[in-house]
Amino acid sequence: MPRAIGFDIYGTLVDPLDMNEHLRPLAGDDADAMSATWRQKQLEYTFRRGLMKKYENFGVCTKQALDFAAESFGVSLSDDERTKLIEEYQNLHAFPDVAPGLEKMKANGHRLAAFSNGVEATARMLFTNAGILAHLDEIVSVDDVGTFKPDPAVYEYLAKRFERSIEETWLVSSNPFDVIGAKAVGMNAAWIKRSGNAVFDPWGFEPDIVASDLEELAGTLGS
Ligand code: LAC
Repeated sequence: MPRAIGFDIYGTLVDPLDMNEHLRPLAGDDADAMSATWRQKQLEYTFRRGLMKKYENFGVCTKQALDFAAESFGVSLSDDERTKLIEEYQNLHAFPDVAPGLEKMKANGHRLAAFSNGVEATARMLFTNAGILAHLDEIVSVDDVGTFKPDPAVYEYLAKRFERSIEETWLVSSNPFDVIGAKAVGMNAAWIKRSGNAVFDPWGFEPDIVASDLEELAGTLGS
């Protein structure tokens, strides 16, 4: 059965931890840890802003998280360096399985949307640079709702954009909190377990499918 599928972006289609390469000239051996802190704080800021109902878009969360990470690692960023890093965030490469996996799912008749905390214009630029824009039918951003994953409202918005019921909609994400957010409202969800030692939160919500990448997912979903 053709399905309506929303794909998380960061960690699922592109890898935000690739920013470590751009941090290395500034942070040296701390580059990997700084990039992990940057990502962790970025997500924490979205969770906190959602709870506090103090929405600022994902770009703001990303910049503020970068400033936090820089200060934590004693890295002093000039305005130019900060601007360059944020520009590079729109140049993240797609994981190698993404283009062939999306292509196969599209050929199998599924409707494919990117579904992200990220702002639509930013996502569009990112996909253009990564060469995967044409593989996606649309981009759905939580920015339209003014809150972040895993607020139930954003998953309901995805289904609404597809003009499908929640039960007919799929979420695909490598982020367990996102999969659990979708399952908690009754959506179907696939967890992309990109690393063998990735751990799924033991909350009692389980993904309907676990796949190591999008090509494997395409094979499991079929047509
Ligand atoms: C996103 C973040 C959660 O793309 O990775 O929505």
